[in-house]
Amino acid sequence: TKTTISVIKADVGSVSGHGVAHPALLDICEDTLENARETGLLNDYYITRCGDDIDMIMTHRNGEENEEVHETAFTAFMKATEKARELKLYGAGQDLLSDTFSGNIKGMGPGVAEMEFKERPSDPVIVYCCDKTEPGAFNLPLYKIFADPFNTAGLVIDPSLHDGFKFEVFDVMEHRKVIMECPEESYDLLALLGSTGRYVIKRIFKKNGEIAAAVSTERLNLMAGQYVGKDDPVAVVRAQSGFPAAGEVIEPFAFPHLVSGWMRGSHNGPLMPTSQEEANPIRFDGPPRIIGLGFQVADSELIGPVDLFDDPAFDPTRKEAANIATYMRRHGPFEPHRLPSEEMEYTSLPGVLTKLEERFKKMD
Ligand code: 13P
Ligand code: 13P
Ligand code: MG
Ligand code: MG
Ligand code: MG
Repeated sequence: TKTTISVIKADVGSVSGHGVAHPALLDICEDTLENARETGLLNDYYITRCGDDIDMIMTHRNGEENEEVHETAFTAFMKATEKARELKLYGAGQDLLSDTFSGNIKGMGPGVAEMEFKERPSDPVIVYCCDKTEPGAFNLPLYKIFADPFNTAGLVIDPSLHDGFKFEVFDVMEHRKVIMECPEESYDLLALLGSTGRYVIKRIFKKNGEIAAAVSTERLNLMAGQYVGKDDPVAVVRAQSGFPAAGEVIEPFAFPHLVSGWMRGSHNGPLMPTSQEEANPIRFDGPPRIIGLGFQVADSELIGPVDLFDDPAFDPTRKEAANIATYMRRHGPFEPHRLPSEEMEYTSLPGVLTKLEERFKKMD
C-alpha cells in the first residue's frame, strides 16, 4: 500500500489587506478536514498558513488527483470564504475561480503539490509554503538540493545519490513539459530554470523513477486570463536514504535569493525564511516569505512538524533579506525592483501608452 501526501493551498481572505489569513478561516478548514479524517478519506492532516495563504497538508491512500480529496479541499476553502465575506476580510475568495467543484481542483484556483510513494522504513518529508512569490521561486533552491554538490554533499559522497536526478520542467506559457537528466544535462537545464517566470520545476525523480519532489505550478493570472491573485507556491520534498539529507534540503534557503511576486505581484525581492509565527508579510506587503515544515510520514500519518526556520542559524539570512529589501525598495518604480511590464500583475502601462499614442512622433 502506498501513501499520498497532498498539499493544497489557497488565499481566501486576510487581515489587513493581503497580510495574514484570519484564524477563524483555519478553524473552518480544520472542521472540514477533521470530518474527512473521521470518514476515513484522509489519514491525517496539518493546516498552516504563510501570510494570507492557507496550506492544507493531507495524507491518505487514494493516490494523486483524487476527486474526493480535491473536493474536500475545495469545500473547506468555500466554507472559509463564506466566513471571510462575513468578516469582510480582504480578498475574500480571492483564489477560488469557481463556486462549484468540477472533478479536479486544478484549474479552479488553488495550488496543488502531491506525490504518491511506498513508505520507506523511515520517511522524512519536508513541506515548503510561500507567500508573495511564484512557483519559479523554487527553481534555484531545488536545483541546488538535487544537482549542486556544493550544496548537497551526498551527490558526491553517498553512492545512493551519485547517479543524480531527473527534472520535469513545465513551460507555463506554452503548456508543455520536458524531462531533463542531471548531472548530464545540467547546463541545458539551467538555461531553462533561469527564466523563473516561464520554466518551472514541477517534479523531480530519482533515475529509477521514484518521486523526490513536487511543486504547485498553477499560474492564476494565465488560467483566468486576467489577474486574480498571485500564485504563491508550495513544494513537497523527500529526504534521507536515497534522497538528500534533511539539512541538505533546507540549506539553500540560507541564501535569500531574489524572487518575483512582492507588492501587487509586480516586484522582485528577497525570499525570507521564517517560522510559522513570523510568516507575516507586512513591510511593503512582504518581503516574500517561506516557511518549512519537517515531518516523518508513518503509516500515512504525519509525525511532527518541526518548524524548520525557527532556528537562530537563520537569523543572519533574515537580516540579510531585510537589508536587501531596503536596497531593492530604494529603486521605487524602477526595474529590476519593479517587474518588466509584460510580467506585472496590475499594470497601468497599456492605458498610459494609449493616452500618449498621439504624442509619440516617429524619429528618422
Ligand atoms: P547524527 O549523528 O546526529 O545522527 O547525525 C547524522 C548526520 O550525519 C546528519 O547529517
Ligand atoms: P497575494 O497573492 O498574497 O494575495 O498578494 C497580492 C499582492 O500582490 C499584495 O501586494
Ligand atoms: Mg491576498
Ligand atoms: Mg498570498
Ligand atoms: Mg496569492
